[in-house]
Amino acid sequence: TYIVTDACVKCKFMDCVEVCPVDCFYEGENFLVIAPDECIDCGVCEPECPVDAIVPDTEDEPDGKWLQVNAEYAKVWPNITVKGVPPADREQYERETGKFEKYFS
Ligand code: F3S
Repeated sequence: TYIVTDACVKCKFMDCVEVCPVDCFYEGENFLVIAPDECIDCGVCEPECPVDAIVPDTEDEPDGKWLQVNAEYAKVWPNITVKGVPPADREQYERETGKFEKYFS
C-alpha cells in the first residue's frame, strides 16, 4: 500500500485525489490519508504530490508509524474523491518537518 506522510500536513494539495482509481483517500482538516485496505498499490498518486508526501509503505519509518496513522484516520475521516481548494497559506509549510506532531497533538 501507499501512505501519506508528514509533508502533506498543512499543505494538502489534493492532486492525489484526482488520480486515484479506487477513491481511497480520506480527508482531515489539514491532512489526507490513504485507506491501506482499499489501496490497490497502483502508484499513480505518488508522482502527483508536489511535496512528495506519498510513499510506498516499504519507505515508512521503522516502527510503521505512517501506516498506522493512515489506517487509523481513514476509519474516521470522510472519503474525498474530488480535489477541493488547498489551504491558501500552504507554501509556508512546504519545507517544515515534524508537522504531524506539531499540529496534531
Ligand atoms: Fe497531501 Fe500531496 Fe495529496 S500534499 S493532499 S498527499 S497531493
